[in-house]
Order: sequence, then structure tokens, then C-alpha cells
Amino acid sequence: MLVYAHRGASGTFPENTIAAFKEAARLPVHGVEFDVHLTKDGELVVIHDETIDRTSNGSGYVKDLTLAQLKEYDFGSWFSPDFAGEKIPTLEEVLHLFQSTHHHINIELKSDIFPYEGMTEKVLELIKAHNLESRVVLSSFDHSAIQEAKRIAPYIETGVLTMEVLVQPLEYLKNIPADAYHLLFPTAIRPSYREVYEAGIPVRAYTVNEENYASLLQQAGVQAIFTDYPERLYAFLKA
Ligand code: G3P
Ligand code: MG
Repeated sequence: MLVYAHRGASGTFPENTIAAFKEAARLPVHGVEFDVHLTKDGELVVIHDETIDRTSNGSGYVKDLTLAQLKEYDFGSWFSPDFAGEKIPTLEEVLHLFQSTHHHINIELKSDIFPYEGMTEKVLELIKAHNLESRVVLSSFDHSAIQEAKRIAPYIETGVLTMEVLVQPLEYLKNIPADAYHLLFPTAIRPSYREVYEAGIPVRAYTVNEENYASLLQQAGVQAIFTDYPERLYAFLKA
């Protein structure tokens, strides 16, 4: 089973920062996952929440702040004083970091709360500019965003993100259409997903930080896990 570093190596480094991504880039894991939002001045930034409150020393919505304003805040100290001064990364900075590594890159489009007009096109342009078309998978809880991505760039892999148990997941996937399922890990073992495994569709489960759950998911046919502890889970699965 493959391992993706969730929000970078976010169990041991502040999530979605260059420090967390450098650690992920150093590891022999298959991939990395991170989240993208759009700033007030239309720049793509890597952060999980809609606001900067939880992961910085500032406050406010990403959509109401410019990139220059966002860059003034500290995104490391909330995690540990060792990471004081970490800045919010742009998508460009993160893609640049992984350009020379082997990692599969999962860009999660966080347009499920705020629609972020034009974000999908901007992400696709940046992927193209870095020649990373064959190394990325775009996922989202906003299924209209991945539908749009597939329409504009059908050669780019997409993944439907879900939290719920769907009753006819294969039909749903084909209808969008999308290439992969990224699902909340307890739902992966529900019987309705058997048809997805049998069809050979990649299923990747989030967020798996415990070895016993990783083993159960592997038995169920899950192709990959997103974990905050990529080094530990990789070592366990390799052994
Ligand atoms: O993409 C997998 C996982 O990151 C989805 O949930 O909330 O951690 O972005 P979340
Ligand atoms: Mg995510």
C-alpha cells in the first residue's frame, strides 16, 4: 500500500509549510497531499482552513487577505517555537520544491466552502507551467471543481473526495467523471465500495495514523493512505 504525506509531514512539522514539505520530499514515500485556497488578490496559497486563525499568529479569511498580507504572518510557532518564522507557501513554491523529486502530488482544491472563482483554471495553468501534468492528482470535496478540471484538462488525474458512504459509488464516479476515490478511511471497508475495488479504480483513504487501521485498509484493497506520520507508516508497511 502506498503512502502520501498528508499536508506534508504534518504530524512532526507544521502542516502545509515548506518545512513539512521538505521533510516529505526527503522521504521515500509515494506522494504528498496539500490544500489550496485563493487569496484576495487571486494568488494560490497552500493552507488547510478557510481562515489563518488556527495555523498562524494572525486571523481572518484567506479570501479577504492579499498574498503580501498573508506573508507577514508566522505559520510555524503555533506548532512549536522551533518553527517560528515559517511563512504560508504559494502553490508555485510547493510545486517548485517537488519538481525535482519522485513524489505523486495531490493538490486538494478547497473550493467547497467558498467557490473561489477561477481557482481551478489557475491551478491547471501552474501545473502546465511546471510540466507536472503526469505527476499530479487533483481532488476536491467540491465535485464541480474536479468536473471542470477534467473538462479543461482531461489528461490530468482527478479524485472525488467524500466523507459519506455512497450507495452506488462507481456510477457516481463515472457520472462526474473522475479517475479515483479519496475517502474517509472508515467508509473504505463498507460493502458498497467493493464495486470500486473490483473495477480497478484507485482508492486512497484519509487520514490514517495508526498501523492497525492501515493493515485493515490494505486487506480491503485500498491503494494508498494519507497520513500525518509518513515516515512511521511507510516503515510499518514496508516491513
Ligand atoms: O485529501 C485528503 C484529506 O486531506 C481530506 O481532508 O480536511 O484533511 O483536507 P482534509
Ligand atoms: Mg486535504
